[in-house]
Amino acid sequence: MLKSRNLIQPEDFTVEEIDEVLSLGQRIMKNPEKYIHVCDGKLLATLFYEPSTRTRLSFESAMNRLGGRVVGFSDPKASSTSKGETLQDTMRTVSNYVDIIAMRHPVAGAAAEAVEACSVPFINAGDGGNQHPTQTLTDLLTIKTLKGNLSGHTVGLCGDLKYGRTVHSLVKAMSRYPDTKFVFIAPDELKMPDSVKEAIKGHEFVETNDLESAIPDLDILYMTRVQRERFDDIEEYERLKDTYILNKEKLTDAKEDMLILHPLPRVNEISTDVDDDKRAVYFEQAKFGMYVRMALIMKLLGIKDPE
Ligand code: CP
Repeated sequence: MLKSRNLIQPEDFTVEEIDEVLSLGQRIMKNPEKYIHVCDGKLLATLFYEPSTRTRLSFESAMNRLGGRVVGFSDPKASSTSKGETLQDTMRTVSNYVDIIAMRHPVAGAAAEAVEACSVPFINAGDGGNQHPTQTLTDLLTIKTLKGNLSGHTVGLCGDLKYGRTVHSLVKAMSRYPDTKFVFIAPDELKMPDSVKEAIKGHEFVETNDLESAIPDLDILYMTRVQRERFDDIEEYERLKDTYILNKEKLTDAKEDMLILHPLPRVNEISTDVDDDKRAVYFEQAKFGMYVRMALIMKLLGIKDPE
């Protein structure tokens, strides 16, 4: 039962509960017209303390497409945060106005702090370098829909594995499906944190800094941006930012049915000459994000599928 629950990290939901959300997302995707009034009279708050295009706009599109309405801010300077209001006081206040809250924050752990003060369902829309569970639901819906299942895949994750919250959430989530193998592709400075490796103990993973030699074995290649905003030393960012640039040539030995995913935004790590390759599904993935957020909103509000 997902009604009235919160989502801080993917493990907050069981595999069966995640499957419920993904299945509803697939039904919405097939017949979106059926769902245009299911959230009539409901209100979502999108509280974004950090920039976003996809997550915020897909949440807002999702609620609008379900018949609900949206309030919120995309610039905390325009909220009473700028007057010194605490995160918990803001959450307590906004809980009085809306039925459900989605929040993005630059500080790792802010979602866990915020939820303590919420009296309506709360969704973590990304907290610092920590977790991004709705991106993970997006990634899982993409893989389930385009591959047919979530088990038995060799998943390569490439780029900024240290600061990339999307890969932390995805690895933990995919480790719950049988026969998943991981290849962590990163420079030494941006390796997968030990805490994530510890969390998937017992699962097969290898670490390398060589993208090209890893590609032929992969069923899924998940590219990521080097997260400029998380670096204290900008010179280190400049040195590392172009470590990996995926282009058409590097795909020569890739499997025909490998999927190339990226949470976006991309900077330089996927050349635009890859965009028309049938394996490049990152813009489709962004669209799946809206459908899975529609499903998540319905589930947390306890709204039944009108089938
Ligand atoms: N994938 C993602 O979180 O994108 P935005 O930062 O644009 O929301």
